[in-house]
Amino acid sequence: MKLSALFFAAVAEAAAIAVPEPGADGRYTISAEGIKAQFIPYGATLTNLFVKDKNGKDIDVVLGYDDVDYYPKDPGHPVYNAIPGRYANRIGNGQYTIDGVTYQTQKNDGPNTLHSGTNNWSFRFWNVTAVTADSITFSLLDRSNSSQGMVGDVSASVTYSVRANATWHISMTAASPQQKTPLMLTQHTYFNLDAYRDPATSLIWDHTLHLPYSARYLEADQNALPTGKILTAAPGSINDFASKPGLLFGHSRNATGFQGNCGANGACEGYNGYWLIEDKPSNDAVVVTLASEFSGVKAELRTDQPGVVLYSCSWMDGSAGLKSTQGLKSDQKVVKSSCVAIEAQDYPDGINRPEWNRTSYQIFGPGQTYNWESSWTFGLL
Ligand SMILES: *[C@@H]1O[C@H](CO)[C@@H](O)[C@H](O)[C@H]1NC(C)=O
Ligand SMILES: *[C@@H]1O[C@H](CO)[C@@H](O)[C@H](O)[C@H]1NC(C)=O
Ligand SMILES: *[C@@H]1O[C@H](CO)[C@@H](O)[C@H](O)[C@H]1NC(C)=O
Ligand SMILES: *[C@@H]1O[C@H](CO)[C@@H](O)[C@H](O)[C@H]1NC(C)=O
Ligand SMILES: *[C@@H]1O[C@H](CO)[C@@H](O)[C@H](O)[C@H]1NC(C)=O
Ligand SMILES: *[C@@H]1O[C@H](CO)[C@@H](O)[C@H](O)[C@H]1NC(C)=O
Repeated sequence: MKLSALFFAAVAEAAAIAVPEPGADGRYTISAEGIKAQFIPYGATLTNLFVKDKNGKDIDVVLGYDDVDYYPKDPGHPVYNAIPGRYANRIGNGQYTIDGVTYQTQKNDGPNTLHSGTNNWSFRFWNVTAVTADSITFSLLDRSNSSQGMVGDVSASVTYSVRANATWHISMTAASPQQKTPLMLTQHTYFNLDAYRDPATSLIWDHTLHLPYSARYLEADQNALPTGKILTAAPGSINDFASKPGLLFGHSRNATGFQGNCGANGACEGYNGYWLIEDKPSNDAVVVTLASEFSGVKAELRTDQPGVVLYSCSWMDGSAGLKSTQGLKSDQKVVKSSCVAIEAQDYPDGINRPEWNRTSYQIFGPGQTYNWESSWTFGLL
């Protein structure tokens, strides 16, 4: 081959494997009419999400940090808007059984495993495999047993895209070609639809929350592990978000039992549990509406998942700062109960609850593909 041909071949090869570069601020930015979203490879994390408030101003409605290098260093690491995996949430007693073989997983959350133990996916630098003006794809190869007891290589990818009318769409796929393994993913974004700018309160309790198809929820123990029981919330009671639209998230804030409603022997206030989505009329149905009168912003979730985890930030202790795009003053912090994570996913610890009939949705092996799809559409009240 001539030297010039070699040169062009090398250029072509470089182009084929070129890794898309982030912007100068270290973030990948995608946008569409009424929405702008920014991401980093660490945890396949959403760092900023701008939508219009009732005054037509762009506001940043998710938690995060200005300094992209701080995410991996953050000692609190609240899985800020990242993808936990390969099995999100808890595995009871750090073990599960597939085809008669019992696997021990790492107990990193009291007696249980949380987000698959150390080396979980939200702590990894994902590969950026495609970027366009309105979408980005991250991918990950999770080697067998790189988190204890999580056997079989898993390859996964997440594609985030934004669409006209302020929709953020998320789709994930994963496969475990060598052997059967637990697979359950979610997107773990924390919202405050006021961008911490309501002078009356930074707490999340003045937001409204409606889960029209979620009258039932999983009872949990003091470690936030489901007990196996499925309960129905009485209208107006602490865990009711189904009976009517426009119910304040904190409608039971002053009720007996609100403090301790999410366990930890009374230390967890509010919510850290799982609500079932049942009998929705179509796959296109809005299953969660979170809204705030102050900003006027309304966020609507559509998902193919059978439920959502609601976590109302009881463990945020005021050590994390806000982004410069948020808050009313520069020293403002993420205080307890000032945000909510709404995580669409399958039933937590379903691998250990055959009576829930979820194991075929949570254990995947050769020839099978795990799929997950959700979208958030933002509008005004
Ligand atoms: C995830 O992995 C990190 C890094 O190994 C570890 O510090 C953390 O405890 C793990 N688990 C959770 C739930 O974050
Ligand atoms: C990213 O891609 C490289 C090259 O294919 C691979 O070696 C590496 O394991 C990938 N990283 C992750 C986090 O999957
Ligand atoms: C997984 O790793 C642990 C140590 O972290 C080891 O005890 C166990 O035997 C490994 N399991 C498999 C199936 O390789
Ligand atoms: C956006 O919303 C408007 C008003 O609801 C509707 O007329 C229009 O068709 C929507 N556009 C897209 C691309 O969905
Ligand atoms: C609950 O108590 C707080 C603080 O005392 C008060 O500001 C709020 O209005 C009360 N909320 C409800 C829904 O009663
Ligand atoms: C699981 O399936 C059995 C048999 O069809 C049924 O009786 C039971 O109600 C199901 N459990 C749940 C939680 O749906």
